[in-house]
Amino acid sequence: MKKILLLGSGELGKELTISLKRIGCNVIACDAYENAPAMQVSDKNEVFNMLDKEKLNGIINKHKPDFIVPEVEAIETSVLIDAEKNGYNVIPSAKAVNLTMNRDRIRDRAKHLGLKTANFAYAETEEELILEANKIGKKVAVKPVMSSSGKGQSYANSEDELKVSWKFALEGMRGNRKRVIVEEFIDFDYEITLLTILEKSGKVSFCNPIGHFQKRGDYQYSWQPADCSQDVISKAQEAAKNMVLDLGGSGIFGVEFFIDKKGEVIFSELSPRPHDTGMVTMFTQNFSQFDIHARVLLGMPLPEIKINQPGASHVILAEENASGDYIIEGIEEALEDKNVDYRIFGKPFLKSYRRMGVVLAPSLDQAKRAAKKIFVKAK
Ligand SMILES: Nc1ncnc2c1ncn2[C@@H]1O[C@H](COP(=O)(O)OP(=O)(O)O)[C@@H](O)[C@H]1O
Ligand SMILES: [Mg+2]
Repeated sequence: MKKILLLGSGELGKELTISLKRIGCNVIACDAYENAPAMQVSDKNEVFNMLDKEKLNGIINKHKPDFIVPEVEAIETSVLIDAEKNGYNVIPSAKAVNLTMNRDRIRDRAKHLGLKTANFAYAETEEELILEANKIGKKVAVKPVMSSSGKGQSYANSEDELKVSWKFALEGMRGNRKRVIVEEFIDFDYEITLLTILEKSGKVSFCNPIGHFQKRGDYQYSWQPADCSQDVISKAQEAAKNMVLDLGGSGIFGVEFFIDKKGEVIFSELSPRPHDTGMVTMFTQNFSQFDIHARVLLGMPLPEIKINQPGASHVILAEENASGDYIIEGIEEALEDKNVDYRIFGKPFLKSYRRMGVVLAPSLDQAKRAAKKIFVKAK
């Protein structure tokens, strides 16, 4: 039985754990808080701060896993580089995990590989942010280099707005690196995630593109297949292939692109793991992104991936200032549509806008209608 050390135990980790358990793996789920979603379905749990070098090292040495599988960015990745040197398998690779821990490293890599991106720069002070934004010369997006799910992210169009953005970024950043990426705001036509599969042999393949809509920098709904032209698909596939081959290893990657009104494909970011917008694949594909990641990381042959039916996912969110215990109401009403499915993540408590579950349906309209009927209420 292969032993998996899962670093991060959110909803994506939970579904990955279920996929791994189905094919006979032993999973140790780690996170900073107790009873995290993946811990509810794993064999063992470890609660500790994964940004703590010594603790992370200690856990790896304690369990001696066959595979170390990160589910979040907030991990002390230098430990994973050393672990890989010492013979551990880091998924997809220590390089991929290290370069995607912060936005700047992966963006610099994309630029180095010649991918089309929004114009961007970095800033470490408010003055520098204003200077760099003026060079870009139009509306900009400002994001801490270390953050996810829209935390600390905002848009700015003037010096006053930039000052607000700087403050907001410092409040929303993870870790202690006061650095933001400031990038040209792309008035895109739509955006996609291209789930890209890299096998150990170096073979690269793709799922059908997933369209998605974001609010506050966080995913609200997604659908698959996205309505892309063949030209857009080809350009995105080529860029994604370049990126994943450079990062190396084996696993599934979520590669995000903006598609502008002229059909240009602009690389945005990449996660070396299943992607939140890819939850729709639990409904649409014969093998979900989690099944694929599980098989590919183990080095098993990749089955033929097909879309069984088109579909959409819609998040079930906590309210803005929510905290503490909760109940979820309205699921029976949502299921009056006989074609709707859902997942509740089982997070132990509420936080502002926290993602608590997801609705899955054959169309975006149905997913939206069903999600509207579901309420997360503080107890
Ligand atoms: N330069 C930009 N122009 C327009 N929209 C952007 C830009 N950067 C980010 N966004 C919007 O914010 C979302 C989240 O940004 P992203 O860089 O993917 O951060 P995260 O790592 O939090 O997902 C994107 O999916 C997109 O909708
Ligand atoms: Mg993103």
